[in-house]
Amino acid sequence: MFFDTHAHYDDEKFDGVRDALIEEMHSNGVDFIINAGSDVPSTKVSIELAEKYGFIYAAAGVHPHEAGSMTEKDLDFIRRCCAHEKVVAVGEIGLDYHYDFSPRESQRYWFERQLELARELDMPVVIHSREAAQETFDIIEKSGVRKGTIHAYSGSVEMARDYIDMGFHIGVGGVVTFKNAKKLIDVVEFLPLERILLETDSPYLSPVPVRGTVNNSQNLKYIAEKISEIKQIPYAEVCSVTSKNAEVVFLEKKVVA
Ligand code: NI
Repeated sequence: MFFDTHAHYDDEKFDGVRDALIEEMHSNGVDFIINAGSDVPSTKVSIELAEKYGFIYAAAGVHPHEAGSMTEKDLDFIRRCCAHEKVVAVGEIGLDYHYDFSPRESQRYWFERQLELARELDMPVVIHSREAAQETFDIIEKSGVRKGTIHAYSGSVEMARDYIDMGFHIGVGGVVTFKNAKKLIDVVEFLPLERILLETDSPYLSPVPVRGTVNNSQNLKYIAEKISEIKQIPYAEVCSVTSKNAEVVFLEKKVVA
């Protein structure tokens, strides 16, 4: 029923409840999850989770927050991870000029290098972009990568159009249910359902009416409901089409469990 294209079950907020929660989610209609790595250790844990649970897949990559300490050895590690049968994307990678935890120059450098890797291996990417919309777009365009998700999309309708024209999908999560979501609602209204992917970013960004709690993939139902309301499309269709989209983007080259 649901495909959560972006979550972080390696997060310590799930310590002590992780396995029980994962079982519960799966029995409640969460058919697939992509656990996104943000550095070498979290990529390792993402792969361990994917090895343990058939319905969990992993993305391997270094987040812009960690770019400041990334090395060639780390890039080699990500490259080796991509050969794993449960690793379905390079990510999450990108630019974050909101927090600026890493110098912008190293953010750009390692973003470009990881895109280059994705291109070489013909893998989709999971993109993180915050307060760096145009630069993120330009770097991706130049990289030649044409497949993946713009995670937690927060840009304009025009840029969403440019991304889908380039071949990308747009990740929509809990923010679409927030009161101040006008811009994202316009984007969802504009996008063909075939280009939307559902995501939670668990444990972050819980949707209304559970905003502020530790998020989990079962809350995709609130996001799907909101999209159904915005686009005037039946709820069941939102669930099935967005799941299908995610399978096409991430699983077509991998064995589906
Ligand atoms: Ni994330």
